[in-house]
Amino acid sequence: MRSEPKAPVTATARRGEPLPEDLMDPAERMSRDELRDLQLRRLRATLRHAYDNVELYRKKFDEAGVGPEDCRSPEDIARFPFTTKADLRDTYPFGMFAVPMSEVRRVHASSGTTGRPTVVGYTENDLSAWADLVARSIRAAGGRPGHKVHVSYGYGLFTGGLGAHYGAERAGCTVIPASGGMTARQVQIIQDFRPEIIMVTPSYMLTLLDEFERQGVDPRSTSLRVGVFGAEPWTEEMRREIEERLDLHAVDIYGLSEVMGPGVAQECVETKDGLHVWEDHFLPEVVDPVTDEVLPDGDSGELVLTTLTKEALPVVRYRTRDLTRLLPGTARPAFRRIEKITGRCDDMIILRGVNVFPSQIEEIVLRTPGVAPHFQVQLSRRGRMDHMAVRVEARPGAAPEQREAAARAIAKGVKDGVGVTVEVDIVEPETLERSMGKLRRIKDLRRT
Ligand code: DLL
Repeated sequence: MRSEPKAPVTATARRGEPLPEDLMDPAERMSRDELRDLQLRRLRATLRHAYDNVELYRKKFDEAGVGPEDCRSPEDIARFPFTTKADLRDTYPFGMFAVPMSEVRRVHASSGTTGRPTVVGYTENDLSAWADLVARSIRAAGGRPGHKVHVSYGYGLFTGGLGAHYGAERAGCTVIPASGGMTARQVQIIQDFRPEIIMVTPSYMLTLLDEFERQGVDPRSTSLRVGVFGAEPWTEEMRREIEERLDLHAVDIYGLSEVMGPGVAQECVETKDGLHVWEDHFLPEVVDPVTDEVLPDGDSGELVLTTLTKEALPVVRYRTRDLTRLLPGTARPAFRRIEKITGRCDDMIILRGVNVFPSQIEEIVLRTPGVAPHFQVQLSRRGRMDHMAVRVEARPGAAPEQREAAARAIAKGVKDGVGVTVEVDIVEPETLERSMGKLRRIKDLRRT
């Protein structure tokens, strides 16, 4: 079979082709008013379904003195109580399911690093809607029927692999279900099968990139044209690094298992300006994480999501802990966007009173010459003071003076840009742990 020669992604434009209207879902062509009408109808049905079928919601609504009939506009959602990860943990494993188990076709569980995982379930209709939304996301990213999609998100209880998989099939693509790990073999498969699209965490993409280079393959020469990256925060600097080294379009996909999985929001390749929330299925709000107050569009805070079509596990005002803001639609005018997620409330380090996010360190490391995009943040205690060290890998062949200059530049960048003093250690190439999926950047030694 002949494969198309790769059309160059030029360094200047860095924007992809818009999706022709005839490939859009009808919802993508709705006006904002039509979308709001649909949202209200679906929201009222969801609140009724949750209240009638989930004891926890019935209790919470009753305690707050609100009922499904009190919702007369999408904004009325603010009258309802929040749902948190703790609610799912407390009702582990299936206590928040709103349908009999015989109607649940699949479960997934979130990656919770501590305690019980949170378990989520899907009916046949839920699985179908999920595949539709991931298919829509793949098209927005530049995927087209007939493309081959290499899926390196992990398969299993994590929603990444299977979520991407069924979405790519629904989009009319050919799926290569690689899952995570066996990096050398993945590189071989990409060369032999010539996929146009890769779906993977940005940090595992870096691991694959290093492997390309180790095998003596120029990553810019591969068949890949689009990368659909998500499941962890990544910065504009990381986009530039990956696009440069691979000569592809790097776009952002967002989601979380409690709400569905990947495909809650997607960046469009023609604008690359944040992620359109698929508002026909999810109602977004942004709240102040401390006061819980709903913030106007444009203000930064914690993203809160309500599902509008989920049957097995409807969620009402789920506190995602993800920090972003809501912006008006661009490539899909009726759908609001969320700005690229800069971090989670939980990932915020408070160092001597200053808030620090790993993404701020990423920005600085990635614009520093002489170092690789691999770094780790280590927190420890020195006496009674918290101490933060940033360990960064040198680029292979970087001279000692260049390493020292990089250490100074990073320390200064963090001091000037973030406002804290950190120690910077430049370590040998290929010594820091590599990502096989979601990367944990912070190593906290303070309690060990
Ligand atoms: O990570 C679902 C997913 C899979 C999304 C593949 C995209 C691609 P969870 O394991 O439940 O689900 O983790 C959800 O990951 O609350 C965010 O903190 C983070 N996250 C997901 N996508 C992004 C993104 C999947 N694009 C948690 N940018 C979320 C930043 C992200 N953070």
